[in-house]
Amino acid sequence: MNEEKVRPFTLVKYFTYSSLAVIFIGILVLSILNAHWAKAMQLKKSEDYAYLLIENLNHQIFSQFVIPMAIKFGKIQLRNKEQFERLDKIVQSTFHSFNVASVTIYDIQNIVSYSLDPELIGKEDIGGPEYYEALEGNASSALEQDGNFVEILLGIPHKSKLVTFAPLRAERPLSKLSGPVMGVVEIVQDLSEDYKTIFRFQIRILTTCTVVMLLLFLILIQVVNRGEGIIRQRNFEQIRLKEQLSRAERLSSLGEMIAGISHEIRNPLGIIRSSAELLRKKMLRFDPANSIPNIIVEESTRLNNIITDFLSVAKPKEPALRLCRIEEVLEKNISFSASQTAAYGHRIGREYADGLPEIMIDPDMLYQAFLNILMNAMQAMPDGGEIRVKTYKTDQFVTILFEDDGVGIPKDVLPKIWDPFFSTKDTGTGLGLGIVKNIIEAHHGKIYIQNGNEKGALVRVELPITQEET
Ligand SMILES: Nc1ncnc2c1ncn2[C@@H]1O[C@H](COP(=O)(O)OP(=O)(O)OP(=O)(O)O)[C@@H](O)[C@H]1O
Ligand SMILES: [Mg+2]
Repeated sequence: MNEEKVRPFTLVKYFTYSSLAVIFIGILVLSILNAHWAKAMQLKKSEDYAYLLIENLNHQIFSQFVIPMAIKFGKIQLRNKEQFERLDKIVQSTFHSFNVASVTIYDIQNIVSYSLDPELIGKEDIGGPEYYEALEGNASSALEQDGNFVEILLGIPHKSKLVTFAPLRAERPLSKLSGPVMGVVEIVQDLSEDYKTIFRFQIRILTTCTVVMLLLFLILIQVVNRGEGIIRQRNFEQIRLKEQLSRAERLSSLGEMIAGISHEIRNPLGIIRSSAELLRKKMLRFDPANSIPNIIVEESTRLNNIITDFLSVAKPKEPALRLCRIEEVLEKNISFSASQTAAYGHRIGREYADGLPEIMIDPDMLYQAFLNILMNAMQAMPDGGEIRVKTYKTDQFVTILFEDDGVGIPKDVLPKIWDPFFSTKDTGTGLGLGIVKNIIEAHHGKIYIQNGNEKGALVRVELPITQEET
């Protein structure tokens, strides 16, 4: 039943959890796409940058190297030390402080004429298809990545470089770079750091999103839990009220019945008792040792008490309230039961708080209630022991605690102790606590029974201070 009522919240919970998951997946996809776009942009930028660098190099080579060398030496021969050093100087100054990992110049026979790496100079046929493309006049760029499958999948290859091949052309005075192809330039740019930066950025976005989602999630769980708690509490309260109602209904019909029967029994019982008393007086003269009339009187008195108990459970009296100190009632209880406590080795210890206010109570009814509680405590300690009675004040209540060191109440018995006629004792009617509850509730108070921390039972009675207003 509880679960049924909490269900709307469960639906909200699932709906919110799944939307959180969808948002999270969305963010993940978006960040991957974002990284992809950032890389594509970076690649395009590096490509344009490479073409610009090559164009500049082409111009420098033609104007600073090809023309002056042709004039000076008649032809270009890079094996000539002076010519090589001149070209080297031009290349170095063109690429100075630009982020270029290597520069290689091929002649039209696919022989390396110049390279930043001296070992490559003179090597033949190392330019691939891109070299021949460039020789045809078409520049091209390609991304090369080193790394294992996972590194490449995550977008963090060990090494990423952009290799650009472009033709080296002779310049014509009016139209720049449109002359015949003199050779091919290959430049390599290292993009590893850029890619790593993009990856780090991606991780940062993901971490931030995850933390935000987690926070949202936690807040949500809190809200949902609190909501569920409130609903559960309400359901519990509803069930409790229903139980109270059905108990009241049961008791009231039981009450009607018992009241009727009690009335019918009490009258003849009264006659039996008075007749027995009369008989006792007469017998005193003839047969003083005969105890039968005594037994009849005692037993009929006991029966009368039981019927009175029945009646107080079945038809609770309205309390006659008056201002009174609770200690007065307790003291009356303690002094009236002194002979019985002494006989069975029980002690009653008191701890009354100072300055407790007077409250509106029916002292006679409370006397009856406290007596039942004290009797239970004594019966729970057949070999004697101490009962501690404490009083104190909380905000709106005067609280009375009864602690005993008895056998305590087994867990399976605890929920049943309030039921009328429930008793674990051979001679008990099981009405004691029912009477107590009726009396305390007639005072708008509360009563709780639990086991003590170590042993015994603990009965707590709370009586409201502002009795007149309730
Ligand atoms: N202080 C206590 N220690 C242990 N068990 C207790 C204590 N108070 C009540 N109980 C348990 O609760 C049951 C119900 O108590 P209740 O006073 O209603 O009936 P009873 O004492 O059995 O009978 P009656 O009060 O009519 O003599 C008891 O039988 C007992 O098992
Ligand atoms: Mg009892």
